[in-house]
Amino acid sequence: MVEKTTAEYFFELSEVRTSFGEKEILRGVNLRIPTGKTTVILGGSGAGKSVLLKHLNGLIRPGSGKIFAAGEEIQSMPEPALLGVRKRIGILFQDGALFDSLTVGENVAFPLLEQGWKDRSEIDAAVATALEKVGLPGEERKMPSKLSGGMRKRASLARAMIFHPECLLCDEPTAGLDPILSETISHLIRSLVTERKATAVVVTHDLGAMKIMADHVIFLRDGKVRFSGDLEALAAAKDDGIQKFLNATGGRG
Ligand SMILES: Nc1ncnc2c1ncn2[C@@H]1O[C@H](COP(=O)(O)OP(=O)(O)OP(=O)(O)O)[C@@H](O)[C@H]1O
Ligand SMILES: [Mg+2]
Repeated sequence: MVEKTTAEYFFELSEVRTSFGEKEILRGVNLRIPTGKTTVILGGSGAGKSVLLKHLNGLIRPGSGKIFAAGEEIQSMPEPALLGVRKRIGILFQDGALFDSLTVGENVAFPLLEQGWKDRSEIDAAVATALEKVGLPGEERKMPSKLSGGMRKRASLARAMIFHPECLLCDEPTAGLDPILSETISHLIRSLVTERKATAVVVTHDLGAMKIMADHVIFLRDGKVRFSGDLEALAAAKDDGIQKFLNATGGRG
């Protein structure tokens, strides 16, 4: 059982169980996410990867079990206190989740406003820098509906990173992108994360992206962690389901 989180691990989950109605999605998840490294979460569609990711910043609460995030026990932390934890964690949602009625600049500025930033020129400067970093310089005034899929991912990434979080959660950052853009985004996340020695958790199906980003890999199946280790150990894993997964998508890796 996890008693407390150490600086060595940014997240620690112990016996986490979560159901929606009758359906148990997480069935006793135990895992540790190392601080300052990038952990990739793999698993088939519907395995519960997005659900798991949302437990890490308290957007979904477990039915039972313990979750430590950034040194705090969060599974039953009241919402106002959780906001303090969320200030340390940026998130890129699977669908990008840009607000369609706001401009790109307003979307990217959103976390800063949530965190109480008031000075317009400071906000504008931070937005301009964030957009530049993701290769979208000067796109503040565009509406999200005018962006391509790749541009939406980049804008979402700028929004997730704008406050320089200690930790970045990314759900399928390369899904739906062509192979070249997928590689570009993977390198971008890798460099943004390593530059700041941040912790990252990336959910992906994309084995090429995994190879670029992962220091550590977790494989989820049937609501449990079936593997946790580095890329070398993953390649040598004896689990049939894991090897099937790696070989089925290996052509793209
Ligand atoms: N808010 C919710 N209410 C009810 N069921 C949900 C909810 N969110 C997820 N689920 C269910 O939980 C299961 C796991 O969903 P999840 O989105 O985590 O899968 P995933 O591993 O991310 O899949 P994909 O690779 O397709 O994104 C699915 O059966 C889904 O229908
Ligand atoms: Mg998902």
